[in-house]
Amino acid sequence: MSFPESRPRRLRASAAIRNLVGETTLTPCKLIQPVFVVEGNNVTDPISAMQGQSRYSVDRITDHCKEVAEAGVSTILLFGIPDHKDENASAAYAEDGIVQRAVSAIKKSTPELLVMTDVCLCAYMSHGHCGVVEGDTIHNDATLDLLVKTALSHASAGADFVAPSDMMDGRVLAIRDMLDDASRTDVGIISYAVKYASAFYGPFREAADCAPQFGDRRTYQMDPANAREAERVAILAEEEGADILMVKPAMPSLDIIHRVRNVSRLPLAAYHVSGEYAMIEAAGAKGWIDRDAVVREALLSIRRAGADIIITYYAKEFARSM
Ligand code: PBG
Repeated sequence: MSFPESRPRRLRASAAIRNLVGETTLTPCKLIQPVFVVEGNNVTDPISAMQGQSRYSVDRITDHCKEVAEAGVSTILLFGIPDHKDENASAAYAEDGIVQRAVSAIKKSTPELLVMTDVCLCAYMSHGHCGVVEGDTIHNDATLDLLVKTALSHASAGADFVAPSDMMDGRVLAIRDMLDDASRTDVGIISYAVKYASAFYGPFREAADCAPQFGDRRTYQMDPANAREAERVAILAEEEGADILMVKPAMPSLDIIHRVRNVSRLPLAAYHVSGEYAMIEAAGAKGWIDRDAVVREALLSIRRAGADIIITYYAKEFARSM
């Protein structure tokens, strides 16, 4: 049937009919709020490249997390910014490390909140790389030992899920084995399975103070030119024991979200990253775009592409507005 019998506008005539036939929905429980924790007391430190986002000290982060939960967001993704950096990322797996202390404080004050922790070493390494540096290369298997220790220490502090973002080969398997050996079969893994070497992470690197001091991350993060490789590494992460897959960044990778959705049966998350957030905020502040409408459309398009879950700096605000 074609025009004049077929008139698609009939299904767009009012808000009621549009909502009735709308194919994609946004609900607060599908959003994850990233949260940054820093050393110190009574610290709320605004992140200049991410207007509206702050780093919080452990004593302040509990209130922030309560607000997130009250807005209807049930999950946070926690990033730690330590004071001490060295060549072994020792602060990443210290029992009294920044993330470990924050997790137990949050679990005490907001037990219903699901706590996922970013497992990476870049913010804890003096050179800012996500792995152990030998000469001018990143040593894959030596890094696995440190990642595994970090993940286990997060689990011991009370993390529900760990989120390895380092992009070393074999990390999901190594972490799963270690958690199981430690009888922590209850702790899940949300794998940054498809993580591109993206310029969209710029503002985050300021926030987490984790920019590499030499070179770049292209020997471990993926080439944005590649799509088949995304399917390959997503399948590998699933085989290694990931519970949830993730694609990152989100809007530059809508095609990838769609492809990964079709090769795996696992829940799929997409990370709407710092640079995506910063662009919307900057253009919104200039009055060049309708910021709130753009936020909604961005999140909707990520869900439509096939993401079940969205990790976004807008989670708390957007959930509140619904
Ligand atoms: C750590 C990490 C990064 C992000 C999440 N985990 C930065 C990077 O890989 O350089 C980026 C998140 C964002 O931009 O919002 N490796």
